[in-house]
Amino acid sequence: MSILRALQADITTLNVDAIVNAANTTLLGGGGVDGAIHRAAGPELLAFCHTLGGCRTGEAKITPGFRLPSRHILHTVGPIWRDGRHGEAALLAACYRNCLELANAAQLATLAFPCISTGVYRYPPDEAVGIAVTTVRAMLERLPELREVIFCCFLPEDLRRYERLLASLP
Ligand code: APR
Repeated sequence: MSILRALQADITTLNVDAIVNAANTTLLGGGGVDGAIHRAAGPELLAFCHTLGGCRTGEAKITPGFRLPSRHILHTVGPIWRDGRHGEAALLAACYRNCLELANAAQLATLAFPCISTGVYRYPPDEAVGIAVTTVRAMLERLPELREVIFCCFLPEDLRRYERLLASLP
């Protein structure tokens, strides 16, 4: 049975097989966690991302971690929140699903997610945490390679959201 847990940290410090980047469709860096990952990974990451041809919302692409402690980075593009009636929930779930599929295909055992789309992209965090946990739990049963999935929260209020939800699960 895989371990599912939440912690508060800067995701660039985690020593896991892969961390997930909440990127944009260019994959050429930005602010927030995207900026932090590019700064910590070093210029080789940007050079590598130039070869990827971008990424569509809801999809994911893998790169090496370069100067990061994590071996790989899974770059995914979350939906920009509009009003909840433009497929945002399905696209956010697709981010988690595609990252898990990519991790399993690469035979990665440990993976850390940030709170995708809940910063610049303004996804309501209470809804986002439910989509993240529901999607990951539903998939873990059939992804034997994945031993541990971490929800890496930068803000204490996000950690509280994940801890409350995870504690309520059977
Ligand atoms: N470690 C972990 N989480 C972090 C870090 C970090 N170092 N820095 C920020 N976060 C958290 C934020 O607190 C938020 O909970 O990541 C979550 C996602 O916020 P954003 O980084 O703003 O990402 P998102 O809302 O998905 O918007 C993506 O922002 O930075 C640009 O290029 C990016 O255009 C893209 C957009």
